[in-house]
Amino acid sequence: MSEEDIRVGVFVCNCGSNIGGVVNVPEVVEYAKNLKNVVFADESKWSCSVDALAQLQKAIKDNNINRAVVAACTPRTHEPLFKRTVKEAGLNPYLLEFVSIREQSSWVHMNNPQVATEKAKDLIKMGVAKAALLEEGEEIRLPVKTDCLIIGGGVAGITAAQNLAYQGFHVTIVEREAKLGGLLNRIGEIESDGREIPSEEIVRTKIDQIVKYPNIKVFTNTTIKDITGYIGNYKVTVQSNGTEETFDVSTVIVATGMQEVEPVDQFCYGMNNHVITQLQLEGLLKENRLDNIGSVVMINCVNSMNETRGCCNIGCHVSIKNAITLKKRFSNAKIYILYRTLCLVKEERRIVEKAKDAGIKFIRFPDDRYPEVNSDNDQLSIKVYDTLLGREFSIPADLLVLTTAFEGDKSVDEVKGQLKVSSNAEGFFQEAHIKLGPLDFPADGVFLCGTARSPKNIKDTTEEAVGAAMRASIPMKRGYIEAEGIVADIDLNECSGCGLCVDNCPYGAIKWAAEKQPEVIKALCKGCGLCAADCPKNTISIVHFSDKQLLAMVEAALEENPAQKIVGFICHWCCLGAVDMAGVGRMQYPPNARLIRVMCSARVSVKHVLRAFELGAAGILVGGCEFPTCHYIVGNYKAEKRMERLKKTLPKKGFDPDKLWVEWCSAADGPKFTNIMREMAKKLNLTE
Ligand code: FES
Repeated sequence: MSEEDIRVGVFVCNCGSNIGGVVNVPEVVEYAKNLKNVVFADESKWSCSVDALAQLQKAIKDNNINRAVVAACTPRTHEPLFKRTVKEAGLNPYLLEFVSIREQSSWVHMNNPQVATEKAKDLIKMGVAKAALLEEGEEIRLPVKTDCLIIGGGVAGITAAQNLAYQGFHVTIVEREAKLGGLLNRIGEIESDGREIPSEEIVRTKIDQIVKYPNIKVFTNTTIKDITGYIGNYKVTVQSNGTEETFDVSTVIVATGMQEVEPVDQFCYGMNNHVITQLQLEGLLKENRLDNIGSVVMINCVNSMNETRGCCNIGCHVSIKNAITLKKRFSNAKIYILYRTLCLVKEERRIVEKAKDAGIKFIRFPDDRYPEVNSDNDQLSIKVYDTLLGREFSIPADLLVLTTAFEGDKSVDEVKGQLKVSSNAEGFFQEAHIKLGPLDFPADGVFLCGTARSPKNIKDTTEEAVGAAMRASIPMKRGYIEAEGIVADIDLNECSGCGLCVDNCPYGAIKWAAEKQPEVIKALCKGCGLCAADCPKNTISIVHFSDKQLLAMVEAALEENPAQKIVGFICHWCCLGAVDMAGVGRMQYPPNARLIRVMCSARVSVKHVLRAFELGAAGILVGGCEFPTCHYIVGNYKAEKRMERLKKTLPKKGFDPDKLWVEWCSAADGPKFTNIMREMAKKLNLTE
């Protein structure tokens, strides 16, 4: 398409007063009308309303618009809606560019409407520059059959299997242990709605529910040796007692469960046999292996609620439940629960009264003053400061039970490698998006549920398992899936056949078609851009995130006043999540950043950064997901290494390496992103 044929339409949203209350939208629209290639620009009160979407479609048709720029909220929530809308109007959805002027401008520069308006203009200019270079893309349609692999035969796995089998799908459960039931096999009873239910009964009922389905096949004592392929076409090899079996499935549900984080050199654990964890206590209670005991102390929040781990979600309830069971068995025992705060959902709260009525003592200790344990001559004594009484006590104990944190099962690393998915810092599997895709992985056709995702009780586990089964059933019922068309494309005319892309692709999506001829298996490619960023010949392009498009955005951002601008390359997942969080929280920060979205920090190449420096950018930010949570497995590690190498060479090229910032955020890190912006503006001496 020649340059004259490019007709960009710009659609600016007021978002009620969310944008229009700060940004001068009419002024922005007039500005957009004068940008190169723009043939139409207009505003609407709520761009995502049914009426506004219909108007947008009409404008596309009436004005022969062949590229659309929507300037509104965040692409993380609304881009799919606008993609569908432009598609219905006859425009290829890859010819849409989404610009966030709410989270990145009006919400974070509320006190300075003029600055917010100027920034919105810049962001739209960058969007238009990219839009003019957009090329059509296509979703990849893959056939999906009706068989699902479930990894893990605990409550989550069994529940998901039953749900899928009921719908008529074929299910294979692979369980590593000798019998189904998972963690419940190690627990005596669970407490639910005031009732104690033996765990064995729950497992038995669950198994009874699935044995009647001939379309469920169960492997126990079996491990997964290998999984290759992609949605609709997975080949699974399992290993059991030295024999191997291979079968095909279309979808996978990961339900591998969790395990306790074993305390290391803490509270005399490992030194004194009478210091145990809650799960070990469960085992002793279940097998009736506890002798008469006089005094039991429980310490909650061991290895949780700290800088590395959040609340373990179930520890408080479990400790109280076990304390009540102990009290029932040993009515004379003195039982103390030492806690920082009691985190219980509404239905669980009555258990506290029940425990108090039974004589169990609760002592609250300060967050920064954990109890101290002494073990002289094998006799345990626990010193605790009672926050409410303002006094320190020493409690002798026959048994000390640590309510320790949880982490993903020990198989996480292996399964992660086999399925090409990620885990988070707490060792659990990392979902695609905590709100928009909580049971999905970024890889199509792979889902997760239960305690493989985070610690949770049996009710939540069961509900998630049903949810994951529903997610897996959608493509299996439909018979196909349309995978995202953001994929790599190799220009073989320029390719030297070095094989770096083949070696580096985290998904094994680039294979040798012939000698020195790499080929992208589009169904496997996730579009992270790692291959393109490292290709020494620049022969790899990523649909919707090509070098030309990204560099056009850099150039548009720095066209005016570059010495006051920070060019930020931000990954779509966690770092943009942090940007959005800062917006939602109305956290105000300096307005210098012009952010360019990439799918992964791995997409940011040396030439993108150098171009921004050449054009006089005050600073450059490369932002991705915190380790190890990159949505493309190793993307952030590769990006970090690349930027470290680049920093070493910058002085020789005449650029200051201190002006290149590389930062990692979680999707909840709004305050962190705000601080990064403030720090950068301060260190770079930016005034506007
Ligand atoms: Fe965020 Fe890779 S997806 S750094």
